[in-house]
Amino acid sequence: MRIAMIGTGYVGLVSGACFSEFGVSVTCVDKDAGKIGRLVRGEIPIFEPGLDQLVASNAAAGRLSFTTDLNAAVNAADAVFIAVGTPSRRGDGHADLSYVFAAAGEIAAALGQGTGDRTVVVTKSTVPVGTGRKVGRILKNALPAGRFDVASNPEFLREGSAIQDFMRPDRVVIGTESEHARAVLGALYRPLYLLETPMVFTSLETAELIKYAANAFLATKITFINEMADLCEAVGADVQDIARGIGLDGRIGRKFLHAGPGFGGSCFPKDCQALVRSAELAETPLSIVETVLRVNDARKQRMADRVVSACGGAVAGKTLAVLGLTFKPNTDDMRDSPSLAILPALQAAGAMVRAFDPEGMAEAKKLMPDLDYCGDAYQAMEDADALILITEWNEFRALDLGRVKALLRQPVVIDLRNIYQPDEMTAAGLSYHSIGRPGSEPVGETHAGLRVIA
Ligand SMILES: NC(=O)c1ccc[n+]([C@@H]2O[C@H](COP(=O)([O-])OP(=O)(O)OC[C@H]3O[C@@H](n4cnc5c(N)ncnc54)[C@H](O)[C@@H]3O)[C@@H](O)[C@H]2O)c1
Repeated sequence: MRIAMIGTGYVGLVSGACFSEFGVSVTCVDKDAGKIGRLVRGEIPIFEPGLDQLVASNAAAGRLSFTTDLNAAVNAADAVFIAVGTPSRRGDGHADLSYVFAAAGEIAAALGQGTGDRTVVVTKSTVPVGTGRKVGRILKNALPAGRFDVASNPEFLREGSAIQDFMRPDRVVIGTESEHARAVLGALYRPLYLLETPMVFTSLETAELIKYAANAFLATKITFINEMADLCEAVGADVQDIARGIGLDGRIGRKFLHAGPGFGGSCFPKDCQALVRSAELAETPLSIVETVLRVNDARKQRMADRVVSACGGAVAGKTLAVLGLTFKPNTDDMRDSPSLAILPALQAAGAMVRAFDPEGMAEAKKLMPDLDYCGDAYQAMEDADALILITEWNEFRALDLGRVKALLRQPVVIDLRNIYQPDEMTAAGLSYHSIGRPGSEPVGETHAGLRVIA
């Protein structure tokens, strides 16, 4: 079995490497020659735990290769996966499908020059309902007598645990009307049958919508617990106990109930937006998802207000130490990270920001060039007026609290991820502010807050 993976980003590279680990012969294609050049030299362009060894061992075994030559890769393949980006379209929030359709056109052109062997064209990118059928039309127009089948195989991996997620998924979703495509995709995922991974075979449209429904549901769960955290603060309850108390109910489940600064990342914000737009086109508005987006956007801004309040009502002229810039730990991905909303708001209110992130600083520098980037967590704290924890990297979970207190000019810690226990922070002489828990300092929001100041 041979496959071509078109697009070698987070999803294409991880999926390609994992399929090759299953024994499939994989060619990863990207139009970014610099990225392919690095991969050919054995460099991994993204940070994802375990990916370097997986790529190296499969490349050495001859099962995984990298190229910019889409034609050759497509023509040698039994199945071609489209794993290109589907970012938010500027201005209207619809998914920008230009990369998907361009890739489909290039695949069609390549197949037109090929041997005519049957090829399954699979959309792995997250695409609005109806896209797979449009990909099919692009192929059909270019290849009226062509032997191809279309399928949708949305990807559910999470950055930071992407390999484990791909190798041991909760389920695999395959949308197609073609028996041949079913057989080819079933064979590709055969190693997962041994783990009794549920396979959901369905239509193209349903597979496309499952992916959006999953992300919108998870974003809703996070937003729900974030609002409960606000209520906890107002009434003196503890959101972590609420999360445990409801999460132990099997109908609810414990995951995705961690209160924090609001969801971000490369998927939830843009996928919720795109789902809302698709639903509008179908004249079936999704008011829950619309509300989730609105509440989440407002929350990120309010996190900046919260820092101002913890700093005594103003941050002008103050230095803030920030730990964690990426949208979650174990990735270098900065796309839609809460830090991108919170830190510019604090700078606009007059704060200087000294920041450290274990893997995200190269990307962060492109997006926030005027932060003062530091070599480690403690360097960021030197003479700062407050410490803000934005991303819960493991190395921030066991800071030397004595050293933290000694380094900070003011012993103020604002923990937007509830990494620490209020008691231990108070015992260490720190003025501790967290999310939705009693025992931390009350954080009344400054209503003359940042949106007003800025
Ligand atoms: N990142 C995630 O955690 C994640 C998880 C699940 C699903 N997804 C979805 O998977 C898709 C890809 O996301 P990503 O994060 O990997 O994107 P990405 O931006 O990291 O990578 C996309 C790659 O595709 C390449 N590309 C674009 N057009 C091309 C073409 N015509 N030929 C060859 N290469 C081309 C780009 O150069 C880029 O390297 C998106 O639809 C996303 O929503 C992402």
